[in-house]
Amino acid sequence: MSIKLGVIGFGNIAKAIVTPLLEQKILEPEEIFCLVNSRKSFENIKKNYKYKINIDHLNSSKANLVWNCPIKLLAVKPQQLKNIKEINNYENNNNILISILAGVSLKTLETIFPNHNCIRAVTNIPITIGQGLTGISWSNEIDNKNKIFIKRIFENSGKVFEFSEDYLDIFLALTSSAPAIIALIIDALSDGGLGGGLTKKLSEELVLDMIFGTVLMMKDLDVRPSELKDMVTSPAGTTIAALRILEKKGFRSALIESILVAMNKSKEFK
Ligand SMILES: NC(=O)c1ccc[n+]([C@@H]2O[C@H](COP(=O)([O-])OP(=O)(O)OC[C@H]3O[C@@H](n4cnc5c(N)ncnc54)[C@H](OP(=O)(O)O)[C@@H]3O)[C@@H](O)[C@H]2O)c1
Repeated sequence: MSIKLGVIGFGNIAKAIVTPLLEQKILEPEEIFCLVNSRKSFENIKKNYKYKINIDHLNSSKANLVWNCPIKLLAVKPQQLKNIKEINNYENNNNILISILAGVSLKTLETIFPNHNCIRAVTNIPITIGQGLTGISWSNEIDNKNKIFIKRIFENSGKVFEFSEDYLDIFLALTSSAPAIIALIIDALSDGGLGGGLTKKLSEELVLDMIFGTVLMMKDLDVRPSELKDMVTSPAGTTIAALRILEKKGFRSALIESILVAMNKSKEFK
């Protein structure tokens, strides 16, 4: 398939999405047209990125080339969105813009990019290792052929779920924000190991492997979290003592509320 993909903003997440497409030859380097803000990033990518994609910066004479691509991936930070000015490409009347910006609604995107059919894709940091979770919300105008291609872009680096836009905020909270919550839990459990006399390094290794094994067991044996909890909790034992203190400190409720507060924050951004 020959299709030109424009990429507006080529930072961490855009690279994580584009690189596997090149690795698996779904797209060729000459089919990718990227735009970054600064000359410094431009030179860095030109020198160090392993594929010879088309890359320009905002002050370059070829900065507009990205707008000639029928499908664009918008991957700047939400606060940088105000600097992006749509250039109407009159050759194509079926322009598509996929935004991965957290919390920017389809309505806002359609106002800023009136000549594009806009799509929201909420993805998460494990996409950088091909283990992403991406929630996609389509605008009505996208045909099936384009939907298949766009899903393929993200399926190439993980799993894809399709939602009406209303559910993207909770999807974001649960999949994009929660990696930070998990990292915090890992850090805190490791501090527990430290408190008990292990080094932080060893504690972290143990906690990571414990979580990895626990998740694999739940997935491979189809064990639900509540079942696994019961499996390892014996009467008057160590685990129930640990769980009691977590219940007393409101740990479970704090986690539930943290997801809902992240969801509400995402709703506020629009
Ligand atoms: N980090 C996460 O966990 C995560 C997860 C999922 C989705 N997201 C979303 O992904 C998006 C990108 O995040 P990131 O971490 O990849 O950001 P990043 O590494 O800071 O990359 C931002 C890119 O945008 C470029 N840029 C800035 N202003 C521009 C402009 N006016 N025109 C063209 N390019 C411009 C930057 O160029 P310079 O380098 O020259 O400034 C840089 O290449 C965010 O909207 C975020 O919400 C992030």
